Amino acid sequence: MDKLLQALNFRHACKKFDGTKKISNTDIESILEAGRLSPSTFGLEPWHFVVVDNDKIKSELRAVCYNQEQVTSCSHFVIVLYRKANNFTSQSEYLRRTVARNLPNPEDQTAIDIGCQSIINFYEHGLASGLTINHSSEMQSYLACANMLTAAAYYGIDSCAIGGFQHDGIIKILEKYILAFSGESFGVGLCLAFGYRLNEPRAKTRWSLDEVTTYLSD
Ligand SMILES: Cc1cc2nc3c(=O)[nH]c(=O)nc-3n(C[C@H](O)[C@H](O)[C@H](O)COP(=O)(O)O)c2cc1C
Repeated sequence: MDKLLQALNFRHACKKFDGTKKISNTDIESILEAGRLSPSTFGLEPWHFVVVDNDKIKSELRAVCYNQEQVTSCSHFVIVLYRKANNFTSQSEYLRRTVARNLPNPEDQTAIDIGCQSIINFYEHGLASGLTINHSSEMQSYLACANMLTAAAYYGIDSCAIGGFQHDGIIKILEKYILAFSGESFGVGLCLAFGYRLNEPRAKTRWSLDEVTTYLSD
């Protein structure tokens, strides 16, 4: 089996991590790098990763994650935030910097205005029916999550996606510990616990490829 398929089979939703084993800084940075390099609409990278390896903060987070033990037994708990709509207005510093970095002259304010406006137009008229900017960002944050989960498995590191959390509870904790953080600009997409397994997983349950695939061929 090739290395990628091996990693995809190795990954499972780890329920118990070995609390004594720590992931190295190099490995955690490689996992985050897989998130950073993920694709996004117009290259807007509408995410931010908060990495928690502090036991006290992990305990507080566990309380707002329905007391799931992976939150405290994991080595690193990553909160994957998505950028809310106020990051994507014509005056938003984030949008302006994002547009500017792809311009021949990043100081050209008129070109920045035009670039921002075309993105805003897309968000006003081009999103699938019923989809909000917030939801679009949140969906994209999941792409970063998927890449991080796969990257971890590639490095032999276990993980668990944690969608069972109280959104506003996590936001409150972040507002307490990160001075510049505001829940007005960010929402929580998904949390990812990383560490090393204590037990071997059950065999995977999946539909066959035939059942989840339809080809439209000549
Ligand atoms: C969006 C999302 C949220 C999840 N939330 C949780 C969670 O809160 N707790 C948990 O133990 N597993 C969680 N999982 C893991 C799934 O239960 C697991 O991926 C699924 O049962 C398939 O098992 P496998 O990943 O071991 O192959 C979540 C997975 C996803 C994609």
